[in-house]
Amino acid sequence: MTSEILQKARDYEAQFGAHIRNRPLFHLSPYVGWMNDPNGFSFYKGQYHLFYQYHPYSIQWGPMHWGHAVSKDLLHWEYLPAALAPDQDYDEAGCFSGSAVEMPDGRQLIMYTGVQRKLGVDGSRQDIQAQCLAIGDGLNYEKLDDLNPVLGDPDLPEGFSRLDFRDPKMFQYDDGTYACVIGCRTDDDSGSILLFESDDGLHWHYVTVLDRCYNEFGRMWECPDFFPLDGKQILMTSPQDMSAVGLEFHNGNGTIFLIGTYDHATRTFTRENVQAVDYGLDFYAPQTIVTPDGRRVVIGWMQNWDTCVGGQPRGSSWFGQMTVPRELSFRDGRVIQNPIRELEQMHGRRVYYQDIPVCEETTLRGIFGRTVDMTVTVKPMTEAGYNQFRMKVASGSQHYTSITYTPQTSTLRVSRDHSGSNRDFVHVRECFVREKQGVLKLRVILDRYSAEIFVNDGEQAMSLTFYTPLSADGISFQCLGKALISVEKYDIIG
Ligand code: FRU
Repeated sequence: MTSEILQKARDYEAQFGAHIRNRPLFHLSPYVGWMNDPNGFSFYKGQYHLFYQYHPYSIQWGPMHWGHAVSKDLLHWEYLPAALAPDQDYDEAGCFSGSAVEMPDGRQLIMYTGVQRKLGVDGSRQDIQAQCLAIGDGLNYEKLDDLNPVLGDPDLPEGFSRLDFRDPKMFQYDDGTYACVIGCRTDDDSGSILLFESDDGLHWHYVTVLDRCYNEFGRMWECPDFFPLDGKQILMTSPQDMSAVGLEFHNGNGTIFLIGTYDHATRTFTRENVQAVDYGLDFYAPQTIVTPDGRRVVIGWMQNWDTCVGGQPRGSSWFGQMTVPRELSFRDGRVIQNPIRELEQMHGRRVYYQDIPVCEETTLRGIFGRTVDMTVTVKPMTEAGYNQFRMKVASGSQHYTSITYTPQTSTLRVSRDHSGSNRDFVHVRECFVREKQGVLKLRVILDRYSAEIFVNDGEQAMSLTFYTPLSADGISFQCLGKALISVEKYDIIG
């Protein structure tokens, strides 16, 4: 049964979403209105499903629904009607983030966080968070009213908060039983990731704390995911309220890979290292899947809560987009990310330049565009090296977004402070990169309102959005000192 609240959302998006034209080409944006986290990322009945935190009625966050889209290649998306709406007592204040798995009978099981608004004894408002289930066929989902919520206050050990208990990410063991990781605030006011298990996907119990923040990496840990990767075990999470640490972690909402090992017999995760997931301006709340051919692929919300305030372009009917899906691997102690190989099937015209000397600002014939997959290799021309290399993209008479490499400090800096925004939120971010024998390789993916930069075959990723007019489609190169650059550019075509 489709509730009135869900039907209203479906009618609204069918009326207003279908006509929106000014979207990114291959990055998923909301059907209409507001989008945040990816949810229920899954391969089900022969296609990829991606749900998302959704408020169709405005380009601001509001009572959370789940939007829904499907794709054969993770790049061409087709919208399906909204899947969930906040229409029950136990989720009246929002259907927050969650995940999806396939059940043995072929139905799809969704677990999400239901938020219920209650008044505390002192009259203050309290949002109670508990985990809820819905089962569906890839189009329509029925909430399990008899069971919901299936995990809440009574299931939590002492010292763990029912007010900040959210974002279940389910997965299945080889024997077909279920597990899920959920973020939870602890009594030291910081985050933790809890593990729960279930034999049938419907009845769940607490197992253990996989890892805790102890106020070191931000505070509350949101949107966890837990998966093996090339012999390591990765616990990925999105901490709120981080403080900057060097150039590795920036202030505010961040995303981290906790890299370690896992002993399944004792359910013990041993953390060995921590790495930022994305070093750019806009990235949060990622989720992964395994593709049918065995690749671990991550997709994130290409936005950041702090830059949403005033970041919405005026007059737009949509706001928020996902990153390009990225294949993950583990190499030399780091998690490596590269755009999914399916992107090559969208390659149009190729333009190639080899070893062009660059000093003053230079444009190259055929190198321009706002839907582009471009790899730029920079190397010094003489032993003296060069002082700085700068590339401008989405560039026009008044605008540009810049990507600047300074060899002396080994830093790569992205800046959108001339991209057309008239708000004073953060527009610049920097990270350390490793050049190899003086050679730096940057793969830049442009999709109308964003740039994603993959450094040295995926050692770092930097993502940022900008709403520069599409007429600003120039790309230029400049060097303080002299460098040789090679450029391979493909237009990306629908
Ligand atoms: C992360 C988050 C989640 C929550 C959702 C609400 O961006 O805060 O923790 O489930 O957004 O929309």
